[in-house]
Amino acid sequence: MSNNFYVTTPLYYVNDRPHIGSAYTTLIADIIAMYHRMKGDDVFFLTGTDEHGQKVQQAAENNGTTPQEHCDIYAERFQELWSYFNLSYDDFIRTTEERHEKVVKHVLQDLFDRGEIYKDTYEGWYSVADELFITEKDYEEGTYRDVRRISETNYYFKMSKYQDRLIQHINDHPDFIKPENRKNEILGFLKQPLKDLCISRPKERLSWGIELPFDKDYVTYVWFDALLNYVTAPGYLQDDNKFNRTWPAVHLIGKDILTTHCVYWPTMLMAAGIPLPKTVFAHGWWTSEGQKMSKSLGNFIDLETIQMHCDNVGKDVYRYFMAKEGPLFNDSDFSKERFYQTYNTDLANDFGNLVNRIFKLIKKYYDGKVPTPAKFGDDEKNMSITADECLSSVIKDLDELNVNAIAVNVVSYVTSINKYLEKTEPWKLAKTDLEATASILYSALASLRFAASLLYPLLPEKMTEFFSMLNNGDTPGSMMKWEDLKAGTELGEMKALFPRFDMKRLESM
Ligand code: MSP
Repeated sequence: MSNNFYVTTPLYYVNDRPHIGSAYTTLIADIIAMYHRMKGDDVFFLTGTDEHGQKVQQAAENNGTTPQEHCDIYAERFQELWSYFNLSYDDFIRTTEERHEKVVKHVLQDLFDRGEIYKDTYEGWYSVADELFITEKDYEEGTYRDVRRISETNYYFKMSKYQDRLIQHINDHPDFIKPENRKNEILGFLKQPLKDLCISRPKERLSWGIELPFDKDYVTYVWFDALLNYVTAPGYLQDDNKFNRTWPAVHLIGKDILTTHCVYWPTMLMAAGIPLPKTVFAHGWWTSEGQKMSKSLGNFIDLETIQMHCDNVGKDVYRYFMAKEGPLFNDSDFSKERFYQTYNTDLANDFGNLVNRIFKLIKKYYDGKVPTPAKFGDDEKNMSITADECLSSVIKDLDELNVNAIAVNVVSYVTSINKYLEKTEPWKLAKTDLEATASILYSALASLRFAASLLYPLLPEKMTEFFSMLNNGDTPGSMMKWEDLKAGTELGEMKALFPRFDMKRLESM
C-alpha cells in the first residue's frame, strides 16, 4: 500500500548565500524523500525561500537594490545549488508569491474575525538586530544586540491560550518533536507561562512584508508569514484534495528554529483549525575545522568551498558525507581531513575494492558473465539473510528519519561482503573448484547489487554508473531483491567508481 509522505526544509532567508547549513538540511530531506519513493510512497518534498522581513529589507538596501530584485537574485542562487545537486523537490515556494500571500491574508483575517488576534500597546526592550521584543532579564544579560526601549501598538495572536493543549499534544504524540533532547527543551520552555505572540510590524519601521488585511498600516511578522508556507504549497484553501492527501508534514529544521516550529507553528494551526504536523525534527549544527563557522575566521563553508570538494571527488560523495557524518543528533565538525578520509575508507576502499575484486574474477574465470550458482552453503545463505535484515533496519531507521544510521547500516553490509570474500577466498578456490567459486561470486555480486540499491539515495550518480556496469537491467531507485541477479548476463565495462584520494593533496588545500 502506498502512503503519503510530505517532507519540508526550512525556507532559507535570502539575505545570505547558501552554505553548508542550508545544503545539509536540503540534502538529507532529498535523501529521505528518495528512500520513501523507493518504498513506493507518494512523496511531496518542499523547499523554498523566506523573503520578507527586516533582514531582507536591510540586505537589499546594502546592495542598493529593491527588496524584490534582491529576492529574485538570491532565490535563484538557492535554486542553482539545488539543481547542481539534482535535488528531487516537488515544489519550491517563495513567500513573495501570490498563492502564499493569499493564504497568509486569509488566515489572518479569519483569526482576527474570530477574536484570536487583538490590538494592544506594549512598551519594552526591542532588539533591532533580531527583530523582537526581549524580556527585562534578556536585557540585563545583554544577550541581544542593538537594543532600544520602544512603545508600540501592534496586533497579538492569543498564543497563550493554547499552552495546555500544546503540552498535552507533545505528551500524547511521541513522534511530534524529535529527537528526545529537543522535545525536552520545548517541554522545559513550556514550564513558563506562554505569552501572546506579536504578529505585526508597523509599516513606518518595516515596509517589506505582507500587509495585514484588516489594517493597512501594518505588515505581518515574518515568522507568522513564513511558517504558513508549509500549508500553502500543498494547496491549503486552493486544492482541498491535494491538501488533504498531503498534509500533515514532517518538518526538518535546525536546532536554532525549534521554538518557532514547535510552539508558534502548532498554536497557529490549532487556532486555524488545521491538524498539527506529524513530526518536527531538529538537527544540530555544523562546525568547521573545529570551530564555529565564521567569515572572519576563514572557515566558512560557502558555495564555492562545497563545489571545490565536489569537483575533487564527486557531488555524490558530499551528499553521502552529509548523511553519514552530519549533525543529526549532536553538532558535527566538517574537516577536510575527515571528509576525504571517510571517502577513502568507505567508498574507495570498501565499495571500490569490492567491485574490483568481483568484476576481475568474473572476467577472468567466467568470460565476464555472471556465473550460475551451484549450491549455496551457510555463508551464502547468511549473506542473503543479512541483506533482508539490513533492509528491515533501513526501513526502521527511515521511520526515525535517521539517515546517519541508514548510511552506517548499509556500509557495514558492504564491509561484511568484503569479509565474506576474505573468508571464502574465491581467488584461490578458482584455481581448483570453479563450481564452488561460481556460487561465491554470484552470492558476493548479488549482495553488492543489493547494497548498491540501498545506497542509491545516498550516491545516486555513482550507483547509476554501477548499475550500468552491472548490466542486469535494473532501474536505479527501485527496491531490489538479492536473488534477482540474473546469472549468465555479461558484465559491462569496469570503471573506477571511487578512485583513491591522495591525502597529500590536503596540504595545498
Ligand atoms: N527563514 C528561517 C526559517 C523559516 S522556516 C518557515 C531561517 N532561515 S535561515 O536561512 O537563517 O536558516 C535556515 C536553516 O539553516 C536553519 O534550519 C538553520 O538551523 C540552518 N543552519 C544555519 N547554519 C547552520 C549550520 N552551521 N549547520 C547546520 N545548519 C545550520 O531560519
